[in-house]
Amino acid sequence: MGPSSDTGTSLKSVFWGTFVHSTCNEAVQVLEDTAVGVDHEGKIVFIKTGEDVQRVSQEVGFNAADVKQLGKHEFFMPGMVDAHIHASQYSFTGTALDLPLLEWLNTYTFPVEAQFEDPEFAKKIYSQVVRRTLRNGTTTACYFATIYTETTLLLAEIADRVGQRALVGKVCMDRNDGASYYKESTEESMRETDKFITQLLGKGYPLVSPIITPRFAPSCTSPLLEFLGKTAKNNDIHVQSHISENRDEVNLVQQLFPDCKSYTDVYLKHGLLSRKTVMAHACYLSDKELEIFHKTGASIAHCPNSNISLCSGMLDVSRVMKHKVKIGLGTDVAGGYAPSMLDAIRRAIDTSKALTILDPKHQTLTFQEVFRLATLGGSQALSLDDQIGNFAVGKNFDALLVNVSVPDGPIDICNEEDPKVRVQSYIWFDALKHLFSSGDDRNIVEVYVAGRRVVPFDNTS
Ligand code: GUN
Ligand code: FE
Repeated sequence: MGPSSDTGTSLKSVFWGTFVHSTCNEAVQVLEDTAVGVDHEGKIVFIKTGEDVQRVSQEVGFNAADVKQLGKHEFFMPGMVDAHIHASQYSFTGTALDLPLLEWLNTYTFPVEAQFEDPEFAKKIYSQVVRRTLRNGTTTACYFATIYTETTLLLAEIADRVGQRALVGKVCMDRNDGASYYKESTEESMRETDKFITQLLGKGYPLVSPIITPRFAPSCTSPLLEFLGKTAKNNDIHVQSHISENRDEVNLVQQLFPDCKSYTDVYLKHGLLSRKTVMAHACYLSDKELEIFHKTGASIAHCPNSNISLCSGMLDVSRVMKHKVKIGLGTDVAGGYAPSMLDAIRRAIDTSKALTILDPKHQTLTFQEVFRLATLGGSQALSLDDQIGNFAVGKNFDALLVNVSVPDGPIDICNEEDPKVRVQSYIWFDALKHLFSSGDDRNIVEVYVAGRRVVPFDNTS
């Protein structure tokens, strides 16, 4: 039994320094000179600001020498949440961005996903994507895999072993005229979904859960969508899909589902929208559709790199927020070419600025708002904000130790002696801005998920 805190829980670690996170009221809150205690289950058991190390150590029964004290340019921020990523598409990231969505799927994506029937290939790519995203600070990922149950279970196993929190989806598609070799029969898709959920829940992985994954309305028939809606409701599990990414796709959905009032109505009618649903893209939703998102509690994963890379569209995040719809950020690898949430932050700001160029009245997103989207916003979008997203007693310690001035890193701190930037909160606001504009994984020196340090990698994982 380790030492115990004032709450009577056994303590694993105490971290001391600056913590930067979002709350519902403050998009960036800086807690300086703060101690955070984490128990053996990875939960935060106390947060104490402005106290003396010796006194806190005595109070919580922790040896002051065992406290991990952060350095001058270091701070902790919450781990980032990638609310939409295709693990299987990691194998062609960045190499195929010259076609619009529907052609892109037929030409590049389906042939690659079909390769994931092979467990050896799947194991290699899934290990790479989990490690790469974790290394880039993604402590929670919401993954699409492929139609193959066995290798999708392998992705779940790898995420759990390497130590990444994840929602993992076996892709469902019983319609694919463009690439008929890559689809299931309706019965097969239903049977395999049941099997996938039962088997994954049966593993009891602490970090990984199943998510129901109709690819998107054009690749699913109405009976399959209805079955998936019922299955999600009966098992109270998450749902993910794509919506309103590109104009041709929106028109196609209108043709395929003539009885539905809108793209959103397709998912609503089939029982797929709930507070546990996350839909990627949503570039072309009407106000009425956004109202349905608000009412059902469904959320949006904004994927700006992908939206620009495939020339799909530009989501107006401020408009989504005005409708009080939950929203997070996604990389959408491989429609997006970067497996990094720092890139998603950057692209979200760029897209918002492009919208301001088109319409100067557009409310440009601030860096604070985008920080919240990548952390707390993502946790809300996945309805995991009772467990992760910021630093609060009772939540998991999913955190990144950031050093903006790491040796041989991408950032030079030029104004250290400028008295203006020495005002405390400016230092940390500037540190965040540096990280978002030119930082990369070299600045993420350690990654923690549920209190376990998972980066630098333990080579046995
Ligand atoms: N819509 C349906 N499938 C996909 C996919 O794999 N990527 C993207 N970006 N959009 C999709
Ligand atoms: Fe996608």
